[in-house]
Amino acid sequence: MTAGPLEGKTALVTGGSRGVGAGIVARLAADGANVAFTYANSGEQAEAVAAAAVAVGGTAQPIHADSLHEQDIEAAVAQTVDRFGGLDILVNNAGIGAFGPITDLKMDEIDAMLTINVRSAIVAIRESLVHMGDGGRIINIGSINADRTPFPGQSIYAATKGALASLTRGLARELAPRRITINNVQPGPVDTDANPADGPNASNLLGVMATDRFGTSAEVGAFVSYLAGPDAAYITGASLDIDGGFGA
Ligand SMILES: NC(=O)c1ccc[n+]([C@@H]2O[C@H](COP(=O)([O-])OP(=O)(O)OC[C@H]3O[C@@H](n4cnc5c(N)ncnc54)[C@H](OP(=O)(O)O)[C@@H]3O)[C@@H](O)[C@H]2O)c1
Repeated sequence: MTAGPLEGKTALVTGGSRGVGAGIVARLAADGANVAFTYANSGEQAEAVAAAAVAVGGTAQPIHADSLHEQDIEAAVAQTVDRFGGLDILVNNAGIGAFGPITDLKMDEIDAMLTINVRSAIVAIRESLVHMGDGGRIINIGSINADRTPFPGQSIYAATKGALASLTRGLARELAPRRITINNVQPGPVDTDANPADGPNASNLLGVMATDRFGTSAEVGAFVSYLAGPDAAYITGASLDIDGGFGA
């Protein structure tokens, strides 16, 4: 078997127990990385994601860490480094969406979105940079909603994803001297528990897309793995859409 492009690298993915994050874990592991990933509630699914990676010859380690809590994220980074001896790739995927008019959303829903979608990414980046060597990779999972919000009720979610785009641009300047790249992947509709392709919003979403289908977590995983790999060294500070033409 030939070595994968990520052979010898260690990755940490937040929110890898389901959906997009599980697709990212699967692909990074298949491409040769040792992958640690966090989960908050879905322990059984996390074990299944790890077992599936092992079944195809990869290495994946679930870590219980709630992105609402700074100390959980710091501990997840420490456990990753302890288990695999370093950290080369960080993927900030854990995210939630609460949708509705700004006056209807409760402040605790808004605070949770800001904390999980933005603050936890900042915490993970700060902590990871202590351990990451030159040439590392940071990939944030934003959303095409940062650039296009065609429906009412998405303002706070879109704002959190816009913050990731700005964070990514700013940090590219700080991290380039260490040859660490940072990019922001902006999916459009991807078939997950959070946004099922057969859900009540699907026809509205398809109505503003160029393609006639949702994306898959495996497609996002493949894109993330490319950005994590050696061929993507010249890409940094970018927000890159994988959205079926949602933003076109
Ligand atoms: N699906 C889409 O259409 C779409 C489009 C654009 C962007 N995105 C982004 O892609 C990312 C993943 O979305 P998804 O559709 O895969 O969502 P999902 O199906 O709801 O899965 C969310 C994942 O994040 C984890 N998570 C949630 N809250 C967490 C917390 N407090 N601490 C740790 N992990 C947590 C969940 O783990 P547990 O179940 O273990 O708690 C789960 O593994 C999000 O950032 C989302 O904004 C998704």
